[in-house]
Amino acid sequence: MPESTAAERPVPTRCAGPASLKPHDDTLIEFDHVTFGYDASRLILNDISLKFPRGKVTAIIGSSGCGKTTLMRLIAGVHGATSGRVVFDGEVLDVRNKAQMFRLRRRLGMLFQFGALFTDLTVFDNVAFPLREHTDLPEALIRDIVLMKLNAVGLRGAASLRISEVSGGMARRIALARAIALDPELIMYDEPFAGLDLISMGVAAKLIRTLNDITGCTSLVVSHDVPECMAISDYVVLMANGGRIVAHGTPAELMGSSDPETRQFTRGEPDGPVKFHYPAPEMAVDFGVQGAAGNAGAGR
Ligand SMILES: Nc1ncnc2c1ncn2[C@@H]1O[C@H](COP(=O)(O)OP(=O)(O)O)[C@@H](O)[C@H]1O
Ligand SMILES: [Mg+2]
Repeated sequence: MPESTAAERPVPTRCAGPASLKPHDDTLIEFDHVTFGYDASRLILNDISLKFPRGKVTAIIGSSGCGKTTLMRLIAGVHGATSGRVVFDGEVLDVRNKAQMFRLRRRLGMLFQFGALFTDLTVFDNVAFPLREHTDLPEALIRDIVLMKLNAVGLRGAASLRISEVSGGMARRIALARAIALDPELIMYDEPFAGLDLISMGVAAKLIRTLNDITGCTSLVVSHDVPECMAISDYVVLMANGGRIVAHGTPAELMGSSDPETRQFTRGEPDGPVKFHYPAPEMAVDFGVQGAAGNAGAGR
């Protein structure tokens, strides 16, 4: 893929000059040579440099375990970079700076992979929860906001239901209404399509795009669901095990890429640079037919 120079594209950057720290430019989040490991023995993110453009939907795709959720946790300040910097709207994140974390987290809406709703509360009270926790708004105003947010996800009519009464697809939309309750500038979705039927998946995908465009927020979608991501994203970043970025660009650029690793992932090909077979001895050795023809390399 051609190296991009467009300012709004999520480009891996080689070096971040002072300009990258200027607030209110086209970049909302920047990873500047970020390395991270949960322990010293294994790096999960390895020297990652990326820019996430403001007001766009960027998808981070990659196979399970490659570090997508970890990358989001660094943006949310759950963990700090081992080296390098994560810059949010011109501010370098410092997880030890409690005041900064509190202030910046209020600007984020997060839909975590297993983000649980409070099952003993109603749909309404789940969405009202962050408003009651983080603001002193009067109850009448909270009611209006909650109903507006539920309306945005098509569930105003379900406000009085209990969580135990709603379907999986509805639960995901309620969690989304809760995530947008405080009008976040950045919404991060971790595997928003996982476990949904095709209709609910389509609804969720359309909602992510619509909310992004209506509210002008920035959206980050982490998923291994390639077709859904390609359909709703402005930009796509492909990550691979070892904490590397394999490719980045528009969905069309990634789908048209001739790079074997990108092709294998975007087309869901079972074999390629990522091998179908776990390393094994030759078939002939395992099956005791040394010298048999036609098996060479099958177990590789
Ligand atoms: N809290 C944690 N402590 C230690 N290792 C973790 C933790 N969370 C994730 N990992 C490991 O980090 C790697 C990346 O995980 P993750 O970011 O969840 O990947 P993805 O979201 O792409 O599936 C995995 O090998 C996982 O086992
Ligand atoms: Mg994950």
